[in-house]
Amino acid sequence: MSDTVIVNEVGLRDGLQNQPVTVDTDTKARLARLLVDAGVRYLEPVSFVSPKAIPQMADAAALTPRLPADEGLHYTALVPNLKGYQLARDAGYRTVALVLSTTDTFNQRNLNMSLEQAAASCENIIAAAREDGVATRTYISGAFACPYDGPVPVSLPQQLTERMFAAGSDEVAIADTIGAGNPKQMKDIMTPLIRAFGAEKFFVHLHDTRGLAAAMAWEAADLGVRRFDASVGGLGGCPFAPGATGNMATEDLVYLLESCGLKTGVDIQGLREVVALAAEATQRPLGGRILEWMASQEKRGKTPCLW
Ligand code: COA
Ligand code: ZN
Repeated sequence: MSDTVIVNEVGLRDGLQNQPVTVDTDTKARLARLLVDAGVRYLEPVSFVSPKAIPQMADAAALTPRLPADEGLHYTALVPNLKGYQLARDAGYRTVALVLSTTDTFNQRNLNMSLEQAAASCENIIAAAREDGVATRTYISGAFACPYDGPVPVSLPQQLTERMFAAGSDEVAIADTIGAGNPKQMKDIMTPLIRAFGAEKFFVHLHDTRGLAAAMAWEAADLGVRRFDASVGGLGGCPFAPGATGNMATEDLVYLLESCGLKTGVDIQGLREVVALAAEATQRPLGGRILEWMASQEKRGKTPCLW
């Protein structure tokens, strides 16, 4: 099992889409630069969605050419439908993130589609992407619970995962969109999926609404998952998932994984600068637990020793 972990920064998309303040394109580009300088290599900076539904993402096409173009960077764009896919492809994205929620209600609120319509739409996008040579990662959103209908049985995200792999999705992300899951559920959902498809096919996407994101991330890592989403400073939320707070903070995920001997390539000190700019831009306090602890050490005149 590899000790290298992919940390996919989704703060610019999942994080900023839900802020009352719309962050300008220039600041988004600066945040991306600082993230890359901190060692982040995987980023989801945009979604190609209806600007009426998510005004904060209306600058996706304008932001894209302003993102760092260093070698070895991997960008994804989230796409809700075929139109979004075409826009992302035309903007140059070589990987797209698709969304399939576990219930009719959530798909309806998020995509204006039933579960069956959303699954069929994902199948169509995957087929189009395969023809274009674009890679697909399908998010099973609300995999642990639906914001409207409550807990979902373990078998549901499993069946949807199987269906998306059968359709040709390159990867699947298991997403606890509202932060309502627990480590036991993580184990129950992931164990058979990893056995069937291999851990390298999966991303895990967590929100820390009830404080269990770190425990769930570790459970997934222990099962062999080496691909995680996170948002710098714990930015996040979904406009169509009431009550959901931010993603697991990138700095906390990095601290968790590195302290357990895994390698992320991301520098927590470097992330502090990103968090400071993101907090200023969104006009809200931000920062994971590890940053709080580092600041408290410094206040006492000590240099925080992380490892
Ligand atoms: N990007 C930009 N515009 C889009 C679009 C896309 N991907 N898909 C549709 N539109 C536009 C259409 O062109 C149309 O524009 P018009 O009114 O100027 O003619 C309008 O949106 C309505 O199109 P329609 O296909 O009927 O969409 P809808 O009203 O059923 O909305 C979505 C469906 C998916 C476009 C919309 O709900 C959406 O963008 N949701 C965002 C979901 C999201 O990002 N959630 C958070 C992350 S999981
Ligand atoms: Zn999310």
